[in-house]
Amino acid sequence: MRRLSGKIVRDHVLERIKKKMQELALKGDRVPGLAVILVGSDPASETYVRNKREMCLSLGFVHFDYRFDEDASQDELLDLIDRLNEDDRVDGILVQLPLPKGFDENMVINRINPDKDVDGFSPANVGRLSQGQDCFIPCTPYGIMEILSFYGIETDGKRVAVVGRSNIVGKPMAMLLMSKGVDATVTVCNTHTKDLRPITMESDIVIVATGRPGTLDASMVKDGTTIIDVGMNRIEDSTKEKGFRLVGDCDYPSFKDRDVSITPVPGGVGLMTVMMLMVNTFKAYERRMGR
Ligand code: GUN
Repeated sequence: MRRLSGKIVRDHVLERIKKKMQELALKGDRVPGLAVILVGSDPASETYVRNKREMCLSLGFVHFDYRFDEDASQDELLDLIDRLNEDDRVDGILVQLPLPKGFDENMVINRINPDKDVDGFSPANVGRLSQGQDCFIPCTPYGIMEILSFYGIETDGKRVAVVGRSNIVGKPMAMLLMSKGVDATVTVCNTHTKDLRPITMESDIVIVATGRPGTLDASMVKDGTTIIDVGMNRIEDSTKEKGFRLVGDCDYPSFKDRDVSITPVPGGVGLMTVMMLMVNTFKAYERRMGR
C-alpha cells in the first residue's frame, strides 16, 4: 500500500500562496478577505469553520466571522449575504453547509454574488464548470485534482469510479474528471448502486464520497488502483480524548498488503479542501483587483 499524503501536497500549494502574499506585502496592497458564515452549532461544521479561520489568519488574509443561532431567520442570513456582496473588503463568501432544518440552502447559495462564491456552489459557477469555462472549482474536488497531479497519477483515457453524487463532491468531481485535458472515462455511482464491485474492479481510480464507513474494501479493487477517500466519519471511541476517532469511507486497514495507492483519513483530502478555499479566495481577490 502506498500512502498518498495530503499534507505534502497541501504544503506545496501553501508555498505558492505564501509567495503571492509576500509580493502583495512588498507592494503595500490590501490583502484578500474571506467571510465565513456558520448557522447553528454542528460539531463537525464548527471544526471545519475553525480550520478555515486558522488558515486565513496564518496566511495573513482578513477573516470575517459570522455566527447565527439555528433558530435565526433565513431573512437575517440573506440580509448579511447582501451586505457582504457589497462590501469591498470581502473577496470570498462561504456559508458552511449543511444549514439547519428550515433553511433553503439553494436560495441562500443563490444569493451569493458568483464572483465571491469561493465554494463554487452557485448555479452560475456550476454551469461554468460544466461548460469548461473559467469558474470557482468546488474546493474538495479541486484538492483531489491537485493530489492526482502532484503524485503524477494519469487520468487521460483512464476509468474512474466516483462513488457519491453530492453537489459538494461527487457531481463536480465527475465534471472535472470528464473535462478536456483531464479526459477520464467516468462512472458515477451512489449508495443505491446495485453491485458496486464490478464497477470499482474495472476502475483505475476510485473516488469514494458517500459518508458511509466501509463503502470500499480491498476485495473491490484490482492491483494498481488509486483510491481517494473523501469520507470524514466520527466513530465513537472511548480510548480517545475527544471520545471519537475519524475514519474515511474506505476500510483502510484492509488495503495494508495490497498494491494500491490510497489517501489516509485524517491527513488526506480534508487538508486540501481548506487549502483550495484559500486558492479560490486569492483568485477572487486577484479578479476583483483587476489582475
Ligand atoms: N460542508 C462540507 N464541505 C463543505 C464545503 O466545502 N463548503 C461548505 N460551504 N460547506 C461544506
